[in-house]
Amino acid sequence: MPVSHPTVHVINHLDRDYLRQSLERDVTTGLTSSPKWLPPKWFYDAAGSELFSRITRLPEYYPTRRELAILRARAADLAASSGADTLVELGSGTSEKTVLLLDALAAAGTLRAYTPVDVDAVTLASAAQRLAGRFPGLALRAVCADFERHLALLPRTGRRMVAFLGGTIGNLEPAARAVFLKELRATLRPGDTFLLGADLVKDTGRLVAAYDDAAGVTAAFNRNVLRVINRELDADFVPQAFEHVALYDARHDWIEMLLRASRDMRVRVGGLGLVVDFAEGEEMRTEISAKFRPEGLREELEAAGFNVCRRYTDPAGDFTLILAEA
Ligand code: AVJ
Repeated sequence: MPVSHPTVHVINHLDRDYLRQSLERDVTTGLTSSPKWLPPKWFYDAAGSELFSRITRLPEYYPTRRELAILRARAADLAASSGADTLVELGSGTSEKTVLLLDALAAAGTLRAYTPVDVDAVTLASAAQRLAGRFPGLALRAVCADFERHLALLPRTGRRMVAFLGGTIGNLEPAARAVFLKELRATLRPGDTFLLGADLVKDTGRLVAAYDDAAGVTAAFNRNVLRVINRELDADFVPQAFEHVALYDARHDWIEMLLRASRDMRVRVGGLGLVVDFAEGEEMRTEISAKFRPEGLREELEAAGFNVCRRYTDPAGDFTLILAEA
């Protein structure tokens, strides 16, 4: 008999008005600032999520493979020490790595519910659909939301493990990180845990190569934010006229991605009634990706009220996974 899977319902906290308003606010603020900047959140439309998936398979981009290796070796231990029945994943994307955690929680006999949270509704829905097929009894509640703003709306039932993988915490500057960690801590109850994946400080050459790959996929990903703004806000950016730049800032321990104007340009953002001039060589920051030192991470977690229970690093010392309790 054919098995039919129920259609996964995506709970949408990002209604169209909210999405539009935050994009408008971010683009207005960023393009009228000096220097100009754009937040990395807007890389991720369907095309941007696909480009990011390709990045995770590039030879230069080690974080995904390192985190996967740690998860493969430690998922059973993480499942047992968390005792979680509900997995909440912030910035879940394609949920590729999550399968390892879900398998381990299922093998431990505790798994009941999974809530992926992502800003890209298309990727969220297809990931949830795929997992529904693989874990038939699982209570799947996909939430389209902005993890920096909607922590209070996450499910409050069950013994939860909140996973924030891939090193995405590195997109936040230290002050925003402290706020985020405190707010997250405030939503957790005794018995809940926080699983954090973070990229570690390492040789600058390898760091820069990971964000400036030979095939140019990261460059296309970086320019995709301009395509999103063109489409959503009726702008006329010429993406190819911006050069992809990745630098390592050793003072802040973070990678910076920039778009550098290759010539003088005037850009019109019709949806905002905004005209923006770029000078040749002008650089606009589109992302920071902070790299961590193990002790610094522990201090940040403790300052937010977390207790580190488990800490794993891959054999090469590239990436770390931390399980913390509230
Ligand atoms: C998804 C934020 C973890 O910072 O490494 C990859 C995004 N940007 N290549 C990262 C990204 C350029 C990625 N995170």
